[in-house]
Amino acid sequence: MLKLDLNYLQDFLSMAEIEAMEPLLLSSRQTLENKTGPGAEYLGWLDLPVNYDRAEFAAVKEASAAINEQSDVLIVCGIGGSYLGARAVIEALTDPFSALKSSGKRQHPLVLYAGHQLSGSYLKNLLAALEDRRVSVNMISKSGTTTEPAIAFRVLEQWMRERYGAEGARKRIYATTDRQRGALKQLADERGYQTFVVPDDIGGRYSVLTAVGLLPIAVAGISLDELMAGAAAARDRYAGQELRQNDCDLYAVVRNILQKRGYTTEILVSYEPGLQYFSEWWKQLYGESEGKDGRGLFPASMSFTTDLHSLGQYVQDGRRILMETVLQVETAQEDIVIQSSAEDQDGLNYLAGKTMSEINRMALYGTAMAHVAGGVPVQLLKLSELSAFVLGELIYFFQKACAVSGYLNAVNPFNQPGVESYKRNMYALLGKPGFESERLKLEKRLSAEGSDLR
Ligand code: PA5
Repeated sequence: MLKLDLNYLQDFLSMAEIEAMEPLLLSSRQTLENKTGPGAEYLGWLDLPVNYDRAEFAAVKEASAAINEQSDVLIVCGIGGSYLGARAVIEALTDPFSALKSSGKRQHPLVLYAGHQLSGSYLKNLLAALEDRRVSVNMISKSGTTTEPAIAFRVLEQWMRERYGAEGARKRIYATTDRQRGALKQLADERGYQTFVVPDDIGGRYSVLTAVGLLPIAVAGISLDELMAGAAAARDRYAGQELRQNDCDLYAVVRNILQKRGYTTEILVSYEPGLQYFSEWWKQLYGESEGKDGRGLFPASMSFTTDLHSLGQYVQDGRRILMETVLQVETAQEDIVIQSSAEDQDGLNYLAGKTMSEINRMALYGTAMAHVAGGVPVQLLKLSELSAFVLGELIYFFQKACAVSGYLNAVNPFNQPGVESYKRNMYALLGKPGFESERLKLEKRLSAEGSDLR
């Protein structure tokens, strides 16, 4: 269960100000739900929790069972929306130290990642670590042409074919991509790899509840049924109701009002390290959806209390452009009780009998109050626990709030034209056919390297 707590916003906002936004909010909601806004062809995620392809869902579960049977490791090869959602859910719900367990002691394959950067060292080290492991690969790319995963897949596929032979590799490589278009679909069909579909009407960063996220998540041993049930519950809960009762709408409105007041960076904070990749997923969702036409909150993330010892000073006392959204997990998955010590040399006996989650909770409240006093608006998003169901709710909550926020800000939340700029330059510099004229310009710039401002 999720609950938005606006208690700490009292010094910054009133309910009357929030409710004054209701007409604008309702019009953004209608634009979204009636599918009349820009990007409306990418709204398949809105009803996905109840309207998903049952046959594909069953095929994902079957493939996950086969991967479980024949692998110690699944490599997920993808970038952006093609890996962040799966990684967010897997890292939130699985033991972070399971890599240290021998394969025999692990119940599910270890999920590792490739194709999310261009580091040769990373890929070489990964391949070396796989030497005595049984491996499967899930290549994920909606377009089927994204450079980073395509390069990693070329290397991984060759490695798999050398190791298992063409037929062995065929049984261990899975491709998640467009239903019919793109280089990956063509290659997968030629080689006979099993394929899963990224639906046409769902963009990368909204795709975690399709086969894109579901196959790796299932391989990690997480219940897909619970995840989808959580998302479906959220879909129902945030479908109607007046603004006061609808946390998803409230979140969208609050961050938009604060943005207009100059709080231009939103930090997503968590006190559970397992949520670090959830924040990465959130940053992509909001960064790519809202950051365009010179608009949008800058989405940042911090892991507390770790970052209180690095960025805490800035949050407390630096430029007053920060607002904070805290993910508060109310019931920890695991806990430890602090024992009393006869000598009390560390002076910690005052904590004896308390659990670490109690201490963590007091750190959260103490920090929230300190930050409010320092001029940082704070809202808490309470998660009753970390479970597949709650993560399903949370995914849907943030997706819908993001779309509504985008429309409130008058941008198209479903495109990402800005992502193309670096790609064009990189293609030109690498000599990709079709980019010759850009190449000449960029090479001039490159040859001037070394003649810096001084
Ligand atoms: O949200 C998006 O559309 C992007 O972040 C994509 O997920 C990312 O660029 C990867 O694209 P693709 O799946 O086509 O390889």
